[in-house]
Amino acid sequence: MAKQPPTLMDSIVSLCKRRGFIFQASEIYGGIGNTYDYGPLGVELLRRVKEAWWGAMVTERADVVGLDSAIIQNPKVWETSGHVGGFSDPMVDCKKCKGRFRADKLEDARCPEKPSKRPGECDGELTEPREFNLMFKTHVGALEGSASVAYLRPETAQGIFLNFKNVLESSRVKPPFGIAQIGKSFRNEITPGNFVFRTREFEQGEMEFFVPPDEDETWYKHWCQARFQWYIDYGIDPAKLRLREHDPKELAHYAKATSDVEYEYPFGWGELEGIANRTDFDLSRHSEATGENLVYFDPQTKEKYTPFVIEPAGGINRMALTFMIDAYEEQQLEKDTRVVLHFHPEIAPITAAIFPLVNKEGMPEKAQEVAATLRKARFSVFYDDKGAIGRRYRRQDEVGTPFCITIDGETLANDVVTVRHRDSMQQENVPIAELVPYLLEAKGNWKRP
Ligand code: GAP
Repeated sequence: MAKQPPTLMDSIVSLCKRRGFIFQASEIYGGIGNTYDYGPLGVELLRRVKEAWWGAMVTERADVVGLDSAIIQNPKVWETSGHVGGFSDPMVDCKKCKGRFRADKLEDARCPEKPSKRPGECDGELTEPREFNLMFKTHVGALEGSASVAYLRPETAQGIFLNFKNVLESSRVKPPFGIAQIGKSFRNEITPGNFVFRTREFEQGEMEFFVPPDEDETWYKHWCQARFQWYIDYGIDPAKLRLREHDPKELAHYAKATSDVEYEYPFGWGELEGIANRTDFDLSRHSEATGENLVYFDPQTKEKYTPFVIEPAGGINRMALTFMIDAYEEQQLEKDTRVVLHFHPEIAPITAAIFPLVNKEGMPEKAQEVAATLRKARFSVFYDDKGAIGRRYRRQDEVGTPFCITIDGETLANDVVTVRHRDSMQQENVPIAELVPYLLEAKGNWKRP
């Protein structure tokens, strides 16, 4: 059979491993399904995504504060939230190969024994669908028994609802206001994940925005629009983004309305982030279950109400994957092809690479000085003095470094460096004394090519 050319996803997966973005977890033991580790560049990419999210959701706003709640909470939390009873997928088992598949996603599944066929279309008979809870169970304390069962959180949101009163009483906030959190969540996902699109542990960026009940629709529209725009501001192709309103039949039990920001992945349109109007469902349920008063009293208007909640909830790893897929290009040049990631400069794991033109004549020492200056100004810098300069450029293009700075004879004579721009490949001479403001301006002026 003729060898198939690699697909875009194959190229991304291979780049991730080759350049230290993402590795299969427990690889030397044969791996573990749907679980990945992030290498030196991957961890920087995740940090940039989280900084960009936190910047837009907390730092730049006067009406949102942050939180970091525990992963393991009192197990009753998950009974009240509906996760113990209802956070499940319908699953079917193949009686022949013993494979387990999501009954509502059989279209996307493959028979493990005959990958050209879907489960049920091979010789195996499928069982009736059964509900399979996605929460990971663990035990708290020294004794294992039903009394010690606890869960790894499947979403960060509940930790926010549990602290609504604490934040209200300690932080001088009043509705409309939000509490934002970034943290790991865990789901025992059974369906194949399309690399890091769907994994068993992942980071979420969630914000619960508490509003007077009669302002819910205005704020829902606000957050749908703001979250959609955030992706465009960070360079995602608007033609590959859409905001899709859920059909009433699709809505989660707690939601009055939900819209998903969707991206057109190589494997089809998929959810990148959801914005939900959760009404007063969560606060009311926790109040009923605990007897705690979670009603807000407005001292000015003397009104009492349980706030409604608008929730933008996104996956940090899914965002990082999306930035990568969207930025990836194999560009045909006159003599060769270059692989380039056109990351927004705020998302790129490395901001500037520093190259001495040759490894002698005082250039490495001068280049180290320039690197130290940029590091002090909080740029993420990579120093490289090995190989031909063209090869060094290509290595940086492939990981999305927006600026390469070369130190040559001109630098030694006149303190001027050459800055090469990743997207246009154009070069400019810049005095070292002006390098930091120059790079800051170039970062600020970046436009999607
Ligand atoms: N609190 C609401 C909530 O958790 P969700 O739609 O289940 O809503 C929010 O999750 C986001 O978290 C999704 O839009 C997605 O980006 C991310 N996410 C959910 N499950 C994931 C998984 N198994 N792997 C990676 N990301 C996931």
